[in-house]
Amino acid sequence: MIKYMVIGDPVAHSRSPGMQNAAFEFHHLGSPYGARRVRPEELPDFIAFARKNLAGVNLTVPHKQAVIPLIDEVDPAARQAGSVNTLLIEAGHIRGTSTDGYGLEHALLENFHRPVRGGRFCFIGAGGAAHATAFHLADAGAAAIRIANRTVEKAGRIADRLAELHPGLTVAVARPDETAKLEEWLADTDFLIQATSLGLRDEDPAPIEPELLAPGSNFCFFDTIYRETPLLRRACAVGIPAAGGELMLIHQGAKSFELWTGLEAPVEQMRRGFREYRPC
Ligand SMILES: NC(=O)c1ccc[n+]([C@@H]2O[C@H](COP(=O)([O-])OP(=O)(O)OC[C@H]3O[C@@H](n4cnc5c(N)ncnc54)[C@H](OP(=O)(O)O)[C@@H]3O)[C@@H](O)[C@H]2O)c1
Repeated sequence: MIKYMVIGDPVAHSRSPGMQNAAFEFHHLGSPYGARRVRPEELPDFIAFARKNLAGVNLTVPHKQAVIPLIDEVDPAARQAGSVNTLLIEAGHIRGTSTDGYGLEHALLENFHRPVRGGRFCFIGAGGAAHATAFHLADAGAAAIRIANRTVEKAGRIADRLAELHPGLTVAVARPDETAKLEEWLADTDFLIQATSLGLRDEDPAPIEPELLAPGSNFCFFDTIYRETPLLRRACAVGIPAAGGELMLIHQGAKSFELWTGLEAPVEQMRRGFREYRPC
């Protein structure tokens, strides 16, 4: 019986069912995780259904923000970021949290063996993913968070709130086409995080000047998108340590599983389930 679900619009591409059911099966709990397309206007009805029938939900685009007024409780960090990707449902009570920041932190550790504490970050993008992860990284001890975004006001709102909450943190904002400023930032960066939706399609333009990823750079490049994007290819070609978003997805899913079940997530099995699952 389906007790857990990922919802989004679209959702057919999601590999979360393969990844989560691998974890449930490892613990002999069957395959209780499904996927459902929920359009924005259907979200209130879905939440009413989930309240009665489900134990947990993962949310993806476009529901991470819209769900907040519909649920009973939101963890402070998720409220701060304005982004919820996991619902925990118990006796009709729905609590929302975000595991995206945890997912990014653990993906960086596993990919690059470099800790977040003391790290200097440069984000491209200021949408839901950047929002949720930037606050988590600041809480985890980042030393600098600089954000370049097309709509620079959105980057500004995140930076202002980060500076308010973390007085010692270096923050700055720019537009992605301010190449000279970005060049300056990147000379003082440990991790460049690509968090726009550009790169999901082959024909997308690069979110920043690709030459900013120059041979001899000292930073690691992480693209939150879990396909090979042109910037990821560029980073690899010039010898910058680089990774795509697969491990972030796996670790955020592992954290959701642990919150729902109280069991240790079998990360290796989840990784295999993620890779082998063929969405319809
Ligand atoms: N690996 C993982 O576990 C994971 C988890 C969450 C998200 N993600 C990835 O993160 C990415 C962003 O997701 P999100 O939830 O943050 O989406 P979102 O809230 O819709 O934000 C989209 C971001 O992309 C920028 N953008 C979109 N089109 C653009 C264009 N034509 N030119 C310049 N900038 C553009 C937006 O800039 P404006 O603010 O100017 O509109 C914004 O910064 C997605 O690709 C998603 O796949 C990965």
